[in-house]
Amino acid sequence: MAKITAGVATSHVPAIGAAIDLGKTEDDYWQPVFKGYEFAKSWIQDEKPDVIILVFNDHASAFSQDIIPTFVIGCAEEFQPADEGWGPRKVPVVKNHTKLASHLAQSVIQSDFDITIVNKMDVDHGLTVPLSLMFGQPEEWPCKVIPIAVNVVQYPPPSGSRCFALGKAIREAVDCFDEDLNVQIWGTGGMSHQLQGPRAGLINKEFDIEFLNDIVTDPETLAKKPHIDYVRYAGSEGIELVMWMVMRGALDQDVNQLQRFYHVPASNTAVGHLVLENKK
Ligand code: DHB
Ligand code: FE
Repeated sequence: MAKITAGVATSHVPAIGAAIDLGKTEDDYWQPVFKGYEFAKSWIQDEKPDVIILVFNDHASAFSQDIIPTFVIGCAEEFQPADEGWGPRKVPVVKNHTKLASHLAQSVIQSDFDITIVNKMDVDHGLTVPLSLMFGQPEEWPCKVIPIAVNVVQYPPPSGSRCFALGKAIREAVDCFDEDLNVQIWGTGGMSHQLQGPRAGLINKEFDIEFLNDIVTDPETLAKKPHIDYVRYAGSEGIELVMWMVMRGALDQDVNQLQRFYHVPASNTAVGHLVLENKK
């Protein structure tokens, strides 16, 4: 049977992708950021996941004001890196596990969790930067990736508890997929940051540290945090953290924390990163 063995959380700052692509990872500014990912980069070489369910948000690259789906599952064979203004990043094409993606769509929709099936979607820094952080610069990504996109760009975003429940629905679906697969789930985005308006540049270390604590040990309570608290305390883009709740909902209640990293700043953002493992 397929099994979710571990979860990874990471920020997805686009400048991190540029630093990798332009060979700047050893620069004084970037070196401490990439140091925080050394553990996970070597850990994942041993773990060798077959599939990553990668929860990310599109930043008006694939979607626009025309269509704003709250939750998306990518079901196509592959997804091209998006052109975000400087041409598409020169990173591998993302290959899907279409059978598991279709199974997830069927299972979560038929357990009353509406999600939009999308077959055409270029993937932006929200998805490609976490892959680069974890896998470096390979010719091909070493595993299949099922993209799950969450709207956190256009009000109203889904609540933390809805995201947590989606994680649980994904977990149930994976548990009954009849193929031996090592599946990981990643939650991306965050931590505190605001890119716009009078509060641009906002970072809230206290909020971030509490979030890192709570998501590991008390996610049920954390799931109740209302949308306005994310925006008020973590900035307008801090709401990206609800995507971490999808990841956490798909893991066991008790998990082993294998890695935790926090660094300020990278570009405008507080970088947070966790590696969590199911105990059994
Ligand atoms: C930055 C962070 C993001 O999450 C994003 O989507 C875009 C920019 C930043 O820190 O610059
Ligand atoms: Fe973002």
